[in-house]
Amino acid sequence: MDGQHLSNNERRLLRNMKDDNSKSWDVASILEQCQWNDQAIAVGAAQGLVEKGLLKEDEQHSTMVRRLHNGDNALQQGLLEQRIFSWIESYEEPSMAAFQQQFDRSEAGPGIGLMKKLGMQTESGILSFVNKKEVLNLITRRMEFLANLPRNVDQCDQELLEHFKQRKQFIELVESVKRSWLMTEKGLSIASDSLEELDFINEITPELLQSEQWQNSQFRPFDVTLEAATPRTGRAHPMQALIERIRSIFLEMGFSELVDDYVQSAGWNMDALFIPQDHPAREMQDTFYLSQPTTISIDESTLANWKSIHQTGGETGSRGWGGHFSEEVSKRPLLRTHTTVNTVQYLARHPHDPCRVFSVDRVFRNESIDRTHLPEFHQIEGIILEPDANLQMLVTTLKTFYAKMGLPEVRVRPAYFPYTEPSLEVEVKWKGKWLELGGAGIFRPEVTEPLGITWPVSAWGMGLERLAMLVLNLDDIRQLYISDIDWLQNQQIL
Ligand code: PHE
Repeated sequence: MDGQHLSNNERRLLRNMKDDNSKSWDVASILEQCQWNDQAIAVGAAQGLVEKGLLKEDEQHSTMVRRLHNGDNALQQGLLEQRIFSWIESYEEPSMAAFQQQFDRSEAGPGIGLMKKLGMQTESGILSFVNKKEVLNLITRRMEFLANLPRNVDQCDQELLEHFKQRKQFIELVESVKRSWLMTEKGLSIASDSLEELDFINEITPELLQSEQWQNSQFRPFDVTLEAATPRTGRAHPMQALIERIRSIFLEMGFSELVDDYVQSAGWNMDALFIPQDHPAREMQDTFYLSQPTTISIDESTLANWKSIHQTGGETGSRGWGGHFSEEVSKRPLLRTHTTVNTVQYLARHPHDPCRVFSVDRVFRNESIDRTHLPEFHQIEGIILEPDANLQMLVTTLKTFYAKMGLPEVRVRPAYFPYTEPSLEVEVKWKGKWLELGGAGIFRPEVTEPLGITWPVSAWGMGLERLAMLVLNLDDIRQLYISDIDWLQNQQIL
């Protein structure tokens, strides 16, 4: 066997270990001998050699006793019992009353307990000891015990150990594992001269490929299955990272992005989308209306169009909703309840230009917060306006999007929205279950005709937080907005 398959680090480690075949090497001695200063390199090389059967790993478990805060203090200022003892010794008539004056309440209480255990007595109010020498001796041993920490638990005086375990914040026991490595027969059989470090190519660059130099070089093998440390650097919040990913997917698919305001009129949010003015979703319980501004102006011809569509169906062949249509209701300001308010306005501005437009933006609904609901959330919205836009194209677009998000199983089911016909519900399979992620459809003539649009418009709107729950594997939507640093640091790169 030779060292052919070994990385440079492994070669260096094995070469050095061969200098002292029988020794068991710990991390410190590896670092020193191989002239490395990164523990991860030392352990990585050793583990690589263990996997190849060239080294054997040995783990020694031990329990160390370490000093805590009060232990450190005692070492600097003396133990409480020591200070009390010295005070009693130096005081002419050490009475209980004088003692309580001398020592703060926080020390006097526990102090008395400690001293009684050391044989302190009170004779007609004066404090004294049964056996001073013994007390002094014990105090000295306690101090020595503390001074000698950290120390292996087996080397500690067990009685003193028990004593300090009872005292708050004096000591703690810490488990530790010490690893070391020893050469195996197979490791010994490798010839030293096959362990020279090589000039590996670490990175493939255009220059390298052009130079043809690579033909005679060794490439560094990478084992992508090995665990690597997670870099703890600053990074985008998972939600922001997800939004960026969604953006780039739609941009890649030829869509342009629409960004617009979330303060809107009820007219554009609902009337333009043929949502009847008495629709329950318009109520205050579902929609946040604003008191400022008091109204949002909408041009007269648009209002007149909506009125005729809603009351009689206008020129569209529809019968409308009937009843009374109020322009005052149209002008009421609100926080948009869906981003469809923006796509429909985009269409009103560009009724004759083919387009593919998307947005990822915030919407508001007056919902109580629970595991799956937030009053403020995001929608992924889009439209396709083209002479031959159709349902199949819409479904394919959404399937492509979800496949790129790592969710290849998508199905659609019939649904109802006041502004689309046909209407679809889009569902995605996640851990064996179908989950509803949004709605889609072709805008009804009641929506498109008043805008002067003659081509079909495919439209959809999906919940972003729902999708985020799947991608990030959450069972509570609120987790997205709780800045738990541990959770944030451990999120996958999206
Ligand atoms: N606006 C709908 C919602 O908020 C989604 C949707 C958009 C449905 C476009 C059909 C067409 O749920």
